[in-house]
Amino acid sequence: MPSIDLTGKAAVVTGSGRGLGLAYAHALAARGASVVVNDVDEAVADAAVKSITEAGGTAVAEVVPVGTTEAAERLVNRAVEEFGRLDILVTNAGILRDKVLWKMTDDDFDAVITTHLKGTFTCARAAAVRMREQGEGGTLILVGSPAGQRGNFGQTNYAAAKAGIAAMARTWSMELGRANITVNAIVPVAATAMTETIPAFAPYIEALKNGQPFPDFLRKGEGFGTPEDCAALVPFLASEAARGITGQAIGIGGDKVALWSHPQEIAAAYADGGWTPDTLADVWPTSVGAALQSVGIPAPKFPEA
Ligand SMILES: NC(=O)c1ccc[n+]([C@@H]2O[C@H](COP(=O)([O-])OP(=O)(O)OC[C@H]3O[C@@H](n4cnc5c(N)ncnc54)[C@H](O)[C@@H]3O)[C@@H](O)[C@H]2O)c1
Repeated sequence: MPSIDLTGKAAVVTGSGRGLGLAYAHALAARGASVVVNDVDEAVADAAVKSITEAGGTAVAEVVPVGTTEAAERLVNRAVEEFGRLDILVTNAGILRDKVLWKMTDDDFDAVITTHLKGTFTCARAAAVRMREQGEGGTLILVGSPAGQRGNFGQTNYAAAKAGIAAMARTWSMELGRANITVNAIVPVAATAMTETIPAFAPYIEALKNGQPFPDFLRKGEGFGTPEDCAALVPFLASEAARGITGQAIGIGGDKVALWSHPQEIAAAYADGGWTPDTLADVWPTSVGAALQSVGIPAPKFPEA
């Protein structure tokens, strides 16, 4: 079994003061990487650094809201100033502003797009510039979501941002392949501040806080567990063992790791000289119309009472 060792590598993890980002930062530090912890919340960023240091790791905090070019450059520069290099970037920072389309304001839309989509773009661009200068490859781990893969009721802004992030991972994996920089989107599912309000999961998250582990149907069936369950994927993708993995969307959660398909044509029909509205109406039901796709995240399958 290969042993994952990231000694000598430097990482930036955005939004790593709590939740999944904190688990990623701990997992990277536990395998020897030095970590720039980033958050908007200074108290949680400082606490994260303290907990990583107490566990024997190396970390510093850089408190800045990701989204702008200036913030991205501050994060990359901090890694270079403190650790002399940058090898790993995890663009994890995120917020929700859920509303149905007809109630969503411009501010709701812009806030989510700025943090997730523009934050990922600006941080990845700054990291790619630095990693290409170093000439030793690197790892970009972007953070997608089931909502971005499938669509989700009430999440226009978030689904758009996360679908865009998966698209950027595919695009950048092509652009950065020659520089030996891998780019993947991970699709985590875990109990955090972001998900504890989902009514179906709330009782189990409450029970977990009281020391009761998640039942198997959640950990295996739904792939739903703790942030720590998702964290193993990050040092793995940053390691030598994963140099050949790029341009993928990889699901992780509970006891499950999964590979998502990419969008592709699944049915086609042809009309000599092109289609008319009438020929489309005629042929549709028996051709491509027979392969219509479902949308949305499947509802949790609870065991029979
Ligand atoms: N929890 C899940 O099941 C789940 C599922 C799919 C995707 N995700 C994604 O994983 C990431 C982490 O989610 P989480 O559940 O840990 O959320 P969380 O709310 O627990 O943590 C997010 C952290 O990001 C920080 N943050 C917010 N805006 C920021 C900004 N502009 N700059 C820097 N930091 C900022 C917050 O202060 C917070 O500490 C997000 O991108 C989220 O969309 C989570």
